[in-house]
Amino acid sequence: MRIIRSATAMTAWSRKLQREGVVIGLVPTMGALHDGHRSLIRKARLSCDAVVVSLFVNPAQFGPKEDFARYPRPFKADAALCREEGVDVLFAPSHEAVYPPGFQTTVSAGALARRWEGARRPGHFDGVATVVAKLFGLVTPQVAFFGQKDFQQSVLVQRLVEDLNLGVRVVVCPTVRGEDGLALSSRNRYLTPAQRRSAPVLHEALQAGRTAILRGIRFGAQIDRAMQKVIQTDPKLRLDYLAVCDPETLEPLPRVTKTAVLLGAVRLGRLRLIDNLIVRLGGK
Ligand code: PAF
Repeated sequence: MRIIRSATAMTAWSRKLQREGVVIGLVPTMGALHDGHRSLIRKARLSCDAVVVSLFVNPAQFGPKEDFARYPRPFKADAALCREEGVDVLFAPSHEAVYPPGFQTTVSAGALARRWEGARRPGHFDGVATVVAKLFGLVTPQVAFFGQKDFQQSVLVQRLVEDLNLGVRVVVCPTVRGEDGLALSSRNRYLTPAQRRSAPVLHEALQAGRTAILRGIRFGAQIDRAMQKVIQTDPKLRLDYLAVCDPETLEPLPRVTKTAVLLGAVRLGRLRLIDNLIVRLGGK
């Protein structure tokens, strides 16, 4: 596995492969890799000739009071996981490689960034959209792999690709969960043992929402209440939001008549957990 740190070396490598007709798959990450990332890499490995994992803790998507400085950076373990999974290139650019002196052009995410995570983390999705556009420009993948865990991000990236004609196929892969249902996340390592026991309640709440829909409840407000009741069973959890939404626009659905996405976020100590479930009417 090659480790590339500079923009020039990255573009030289990818342009050469493109000329040879090699299909490049990109798995963009901020490191602290876990089995969720592993599943993205495996998916990329299966459908692409060459796999690039990018590892860049992007300051532009952190708010001033967020954990940019404390974000875990276990580089050796991340590189070992990539090696184990047969990654061709680990692209771990320096700050200057992504944001060189003079850098000033950014992407402004649109309406999809207004609600939910975007409302709680102003500027977050502009930062994500900008760095994803940069990574696509540097790596020039034909395919890029994102986790459904960050549902709003995945919808927004698909919009970005379409709006800016970036020519990358975006593949959204299912959330990987612990046995108790907790969605894997790099930040789960911050949970204390007691918090870790409470964390799966978010998934349980979303499941209660899904059960309500599958039992015929259609009003968004009623489904919200069914989910909220589950969160209230654990005093350690502070509800941030739970919502029944249109999976394309992310707008709340007053009534469920077709596929919906249940979005949820809670606070647990200093941490925020997010998760989601897609509910297909008449399907799984
Ligand atoms: O999901 C993430 O890890 C990040 O938001 C991403 C897509 C790598 C952009 O920094």
